[in-house]
This record gives sequence, C-alpha cells and structure tokens, in this order.
Amino acid sequence: MLTIGVLASGKGSNLQAIADYIKTEKLSVKVGAVLTDNPESSALAIAEKEGIDHLCIPEAEHKTFLSSATEKKYVETLKKCNVELVCMAGFMRVLKKDFMEEFPGKIINIHPSLLPAFQGLAAWEQALRYGVQFTGCTTHFVECGVDTGPVILQAVVPVLKEDTAETLHRRIQEKEHVIYPLTVRLIAEGRISLSGRRVYINN
Ligand code: GRF
Repeated sequence: MLTIGVLASGKGSNLQAIADYIKTEKLSVKVGAVLTDNPESSALAIAEKEGIDHLCIPEAEHKTFLSSATEKKYVETLKKCNVELVCMAGFMRVLKKDFMEEFPGKIINIHPSLLPAFQGLAAWEQALRYGVQFTGCTTHFVECGVDTGPVILQAVVPVLKEDTAETLHRRIQEKEHVIYPLTVRLIAEGRISLSGRRVYINN
C-alpha cells in the first residue's frame, strides 16, 4: 500500500479525482494527508468528506514560497502521516531544496499545459494568447524550479475556435482528472522508471 499526501491550495478537483479513482479501481493507495496553505481551499472539505486527515498550515511571511519554519511543519506532518509520495495539486507555493531532499524523487505535480510550453501561472491563458492549436496537461516529477522536472504523462487538448480561457481550462481539467490518478497508479504499481530525464512506463 502506497501512502500519498496531497498538497492543494484551490478547488481540489484533482484531489477528488484521485480519491475517486483509488476507490473505483481499488488501488493499493491511501491518501494519508491533505495539506493546504489556504483556509478557504475546498480541498479541506473534500478531505473531510473522504475521511482523510487534513490540515491547513498557512504561511504569512511569503506569497510564492514557504518560510523554512513553515516548510518544516509540512514535512513533519507528512512524515507523521507516513506519506511516501507527495502529490502537488494546485499548490501555489514553490518547494525549496530542504523539502525536496526529504522526499527525493517522490514529489510529483500536475501542470495545465504540455510542458515545457507555458510554465507558470494561468497556462491555458498563455496558450490562448500564443495561439497554439493544441495544449493539454502534464504530470511530472518535481525538481528545484517552477514546472520543470521529468515528464511522466501528458494529455493533449485541442484549442477550439470558440474557446475562452474558462472553456479551455475546463477541458484541460477533464484530462487532468484522467492523467493524475493514472500517474499515481503507475507509481504505486512500480511501473515508472527514470533514466536521466526520461521517464519510462513499464508494462
Ligand atoms: C490545475 O489546473 C493544475 O494543473 C494546476 O492547478 C490546478 C489545480 O486544480 N497546477 P484543482 O485545485 O485540483 O481543481
């Protein structure tokens, strides 16, 4: 049984998708903790409903990252809950080296574009502004840097003529809810291997 911890700051729809998939597919995965920096995050209510341990650990000092003291609290809580794989799902803070070293090769993220295109915020708006025909979403291992790290799975979403930022983001999220749970499954089943920057998926 693989114990995962989910870090979220917003709606928590990926958390819900992962929790649902674990149940319907009877995966040998447990969501051991849900942590957020945002007391308003719906991830808290989702965790409550799903019977998952959850905690809001706010950060007052910084906006885009966590102070070392706060980071330590995250690490301690995750360790206390026996978390082996950290899944970032819309967590709006960049993790620092110290955090990363506590979970080497065991932190993943989802990003709403086909990385390495459109890193950073509101990637679906960037895609619309750029005028690409296709965008999508990516799961990847996390390394120091924003939205970098070896790519695990990607799904493609066509950009339609009538798309607004909202409709495009919604369709990207539908694909996120497919590839993020699948990524967790592949890791839990030991089917992901890494050679340099390349991820291989084994049968
Ligand atoms: C997703 O679009 C994800 O790609 C990005 O943040 C958003 C989180 O959505 N990193 P939700 O909170 O899981 O609904």
